[in-house]
Amino acid sequence: MDNNSFSLTALGAAFMRGYHARHDDPKIFHDPLAYGLLTEKERFLIARHWLNRLQSADAEGAKMCPDEASALRRALQIWTGASVVLSRARYAEEALREGIGRGIRQYVILGAGMDTFAFRCPEAMEKVEVFEVDHPATQTFKRNRIAELGWKIPSGLHFVPLDFTESSLGEMKSHSPYNPAGLTFFSWLGVTYYLSRKTVLDTLAAVARISPPESMVVFDYLGPRVASSRIAAKRLKAIGDSLRDLGEPLKTGFDPAALGADLARSGLRLVEDLAPSDIQRRYFDGRTDGYRASEHIRFALAAVK
Ligand SMILES: C[S@@+](CC[C@H](N)C(=O)[O-])C[C@H]1O[C@@H](n2cnc3c(N)ncnc32)[C@H](O)[C@@H]1O
Repeated sequence: MDNNSFSLTALGAAFMRGYHARHDDPKIFHDPLAYGLLTEKERFLIARHWLNRLQSADAEGAKMCPDEASALRRALQIWTGASVVLSRARYAEEALREGIGRGIRQYVILGAGMDTFAFRCPEAMEKVEVFEVDHPATQTFKRNRIAELGWKIPSGLHFVPLDFTESSLGEMKSHSPYNPAGLTFFSWLGVTYYLSRKTVLDTLAAVARISPPESMVVFDYLGPRVASSRIAAKRLKAIGDSLRDLGEPLKTGFDPAALGADLARSGLRLVEDLAPSDIQRRYFDGRTDGYRASEHIRFALAAVK
């Protein structure tokens, strides 16, 4: 991301959650507010982006679609971007709810984008303070949009503008009512791949520094390339090209075999690392539409030591 422009992928992720809420059943993750954060023009432009991508990367598939609506459905379902966006949100919020049962009272959403948790889950907001930490440009865009829509900001929602590449997450202590002594749940969805390895590990180390033991963090990450599948490699290339065009190129992945040791050096204990096959089993098996786990993305859950 460059310094002045907001994240287009954040809008893309909101589009995917909104599309799914409106058009698909059963739900992988239900976000009925997501579409509302996008204007009609933005929805139109994002749909066009996906239709163009389908045309250039899967012209045969595009030809088989009788109309634009089914072409859009094909684009969202056969490429795994939407599957990743939906299943990682489900995974994070399932772990969060479990954590709230164990006494978590703060929820820090790192790289929050157009996340709607604070507006969508009023009953959970009675139990947790929510901190949305995001790049200043994206956060300004979102706050302006919320103001235009006239959405009331819940009293327990706090905004913390912060660029992970320029400032340490530790600074949020002095810019918000965040309590470093309180048991905290962090989610970091759809962000690690856009940062350098050093920034990811420094930020995870800051999570461990500013929260007490048994605080939790969930993040998704780019795992190893799947050399065995040409289709998977082609899909990853198409997604990589699309993200580069949007100004948010993929930068960093992690080796699952070394992740536990990487996290340990950052003060975290790896609790769970879901491989694509685990994600498939948990969230996609039995679906009859085209949604399925990405071959490349894994979900990690770690605890502060
Ligand atoms: C793909 S979006 C994901 C948004 C949201 N977590 C979701 O799952 O829909 C990437 C998010 O990371 C944020 N981001 C990217 N680079 C960042 C940086 N250097 N500092 C802070 N936030 C950053 C963007 O502003 C954006 O909100």
